[in-house]
Amino acid sequence: MATQKISNFLTLFAPPRPMAAFPSNLPVLTVAITGAAGQIGYSLAPLIAQGLMFGPHQKVALRLLDLGTAQDALSGVRMELLDCALPLLHSVDITADPHVAFTGADAAVLCGAFPRRPGMERQDLLLTNAGIFKQQGRVIRDAAAAHCRVLVVGNPANTNALILATSGGLNPAHVSALTRLDHNRAVGLIAARLGPTGAAHRQAVIWGNHSATQVPDVESLSSAAAPLSADDAAYFHGEFIPQVQQRGAEVMKLRGLSSALSAAKAIVDHMRDWILGSEGRVVSMAVPSAGNPYGVPAGLIYSFPVTCAAGVWHFAPGAVLTEDIKRRMDASTAELVEERTLAGL
Ligand code: NAD
Ligand code: LMR
Repeated sequence: MATQKISNFLTLFAPPRPMAAFPSNLPVLTVAITGAAGQIGYSLAPLIAQGLMFGPHQKVALRLLDLGTAQDALSGVRMELLDCALPLLHSVDITADPHVAFTGADAAVLCGAFPRRPGMERQDLLLTNAGIFKQQGRVIRDAAAAHCRVLVVGNPANTNALILATSGGLNPAHVSALTRLDHNRAVGLIAARLGPTGAAHRQAVIWGNHSATQVPDVESLSSAAAPLSADDAAYFHGEFIPQVQQRGAEVMKLRGLSSALSAAKAIVDHMRDWILGSEGRVVSMAVPSAGNPYGVPAGLIYSFPVTCAAGVWHFAPGAVLTEDIKRRMDASTAELVEERTLAGL
């Protein structure tokens, strides 16, 4: 057992295994959503059933997983989904059994976790949530389709994804974590500051952990954009960074709950771009760090700029990193290494 665990973990240090092609002709695409009775699940399921994640011609079967105590709520969600009379929605199954949820799944979005409440640090969550992802990694290995693409949303998302991939011995290149919400937050703030003309060709990148150490960056891949004015440069090197880093905490303070509708939209963006392709656009995804061109050590799930086509992502090359960005990236790396140690990996 211990030998198996070590060999699974070592795969995270090796260059990614080839990604199994994602089939383009599935009559019905089965998507498992965990924590589906929660707030993100409630916003996300209808977006998928409307065709926003897998396209306007792809039928989808939803498998909604939540705890036994949440089955009534899940029944209500199922009724509402059926009441939407959505032509792409093939079926909705609800369950408290991960085997039922993941059997034959083509894609899985893992939101099921205990969320951070105001005043809690994300790392406080790590030990509580680790057990969930250990178990689900093994069930996905045993029951899901070999090409299944997995997105971990539940926090701490990067390390939960690492736990999942390791415990299941999954192809690490099929496992990712959500930093697209941070990316979208950065894109929104760039547009608000610079307007459409100033924002043209300005590439947002999120490096590192989905946490307060993440590195929002508007310059490293923006060589084609107009130069920033001194005021704008001061904003993007200063206030902008904690604004993005703390956006989730800010929403939580105001709503008393963590972001849900923007998280659901970001999940759709992430999976759509991964599976249908990002059409040359660079987006941020937290993926295994092995083989990256930016000097981040292997063995982490770290957010990078990537492009995607047909279920396969590639590191976007060519980012020119300043010393400040490198220093910040190192701090995020150190946090992820610490989380990995705390998780016992
Ligand atoms: P929520 O509390 O509304 O829903 C979580 C659901 O998970 C609950 O219904 C709960 O019963 C369920 N759950 C708990 N353990 C489970 C298990 N073992 N199996 C299946 N279901 C289980 O929370 P939410 O607002 O929907 O957020 C979900 C997660 O996403 C949280 O961890 C939150 O911190 C995280 N989040 C991440 C991002 C990101 O960008 N990565 C953004 C927002 C929220
Ligand atoms: C977010 O970025 O909004 C969430 O990850 C916040 C949280 O901790 O749930």
